[in-house]
Amino acid sequence: MWILKILFFLGLSLFLTFSSEESITPSYHNPAEILEKIHHGKNPGKGVYDVFCAVCHDPDPVIAVGAPLRGVEKDWVLRCRQRNLKAMLIAIDGGMNNMPPRGGCFECTDEDLIAAIKYMIEKKPSSRK
Ligand code: HEC
Repeated sequence: MWILKILFFLGLSLFLTFSSEESITPSYHNPAEILEKIHHGKNPGKGVYDVFCAVCHDPDPVIAVGAPLRGVEKDWVLRCRQRNLKAMLIAIDGGMNNMPPRGGCFECTDEDLIAAIKYMIEKKPSSRK
């Protein structure tokens, strides 16, 4: 009978090994796939922001590297006075001090980034169009 028990546990551990490997697969970093989902979501700006930008731009950022924070008006007043959305996009395209090029999202289209910036600022830069 003990041989059956051993076979059972062997089978169980094999099953667990393979099933856990499978559950790891979908969590591989696949920005194109993530963006595809975001594009079909309700608020693409928020989607892009949450996945690619929040780590530095959240009001309570995981990485505090001096990024202007989402919804914190004083962080944005001067930037919005100096640059409109298009100029900000050009500014972030090549990276900006501690920010990697395109905010680290190379698969993001210009529209994705603009939507994320709008969500971050929470209102349109006022002075210039
Ligand atoms: C690794 C951290 C980091 C990530 C990730 C990041 N940023 Fe930034 N971002 C910064 C920092 C730091 C600055 C401030 C740069 C400076 O002025 O020195 C900044 C500045 C900006 C600005 C202001 C640009 C300007 O013209 O003043 C915008 C807009 C911006 N980020 C958008 C984004 C977007 C959109 C994403 C996601 C796609 C993103 N960032 C991801 C760190 C980050």
